[in-house]
Amino acid sequence: MQKRQLGPCVTYFPQPTSIITSTDISGTANLMTASWVGIVSKTPPTMAVSLNKGRKTYKNITQSGEFVVNMVPASLAVEADYCGIRSGHRDDKLEETGLSLEPAEIVKVPMLVESPLNVECRLSQEIDLGDYRLLIAEVLQIHAAESAYTLDEKIDVRRFDPLVYLGGVREYWDLGNKRADAYSDGKRLIGGKE
Ligand SMILES: Cc1cc2nc3c(=O)[nH]c(=O)nc-3n(C[C@H](O)[C@H](O)[C@H](O)COP(=O)(O)O)c2cc1C
Repeated sequence: MQKRQLGPCVTYFPQPTSIITSTDISGTANLMTASWVGIVSKTPPTMAVSLNKGRKTYKNITQSGEFVVNMVPASLAVEADYCGIRSGHRDDKLEETGLSLEPAEIVKVPMLVESPLNVECRLSQEIDLGDYRLLIAEVLQIHAAESAYTLDEKIDVRRFDPLVYLGGVREYWDLGNKRADAYSDGKRLIGGKE
C-alpha cells in the first residue's frame, strides 16, 4: 500500500464524540465536546480525557475533581459541534442547544439526559502535555439507556447510534455496519493453536 507521510499531527480516526459535563464553583453546569476521551484501564475502571488548559471545562474539573462523560448519539451532531466551538467562558451552551441535565448518582456534576451512555468520573491524576493536560479519572458509575437493551438483555449498539468523529478531516459519521465479533472472529487466524 503506497502511503503519504503526514508528519507529526493529530490526524487519526475513528474517535468517539463525547460531551463532558462539569460544574463551576457556584454549581453552574457547562457542556464541552471532546474526542480525546477513552477507557484506559479495566482494573480499576479508568477513563482519560485530554483537555487544553484554556477550556472552561478544564478549570471546572480541576476545581471540583469530578465530571461526567456523555456519549453523543448521531442525532445530536449539530448540538455536539456547537458545544465544541463555543466556550462556557462566554456562552450558556445548555440554553443555546436546548439540551437538558439530570442528577448523577455519585458525583455532584449532572449528566446529559439526551445521552444514552453516561460515565461518572472522579479525577485521580493529571499529566502535563504541553498546552494540554491528560486527566486520568476513576470510573464510578455508568448509566446505559434501558431502551438500548433487547428482550434477551443484550445491548443493541444501533440503539445507542454513537456519533463518530474523524479527526484530521473534521467530519462526523454514524456507525455503519457490524463487521465482526470482538475477541472472537480474530481466532480464525490462530490456525488450530486454540
Ligand atoms: C469534535 C470536537 C472534538 C473536540 N475534542 C477536544 C478534546 O478532546 N480536548 C479539548 O481540549 N478540546 C476539544 N475540542 C474543542 C473544545 O470542545 C472547545 O474548545 C470548546 O469550546 C471548549 O469548551 P469550554 O471552554 O466550555 O470547556 C473539540 C472540539 C470538537 C468540535
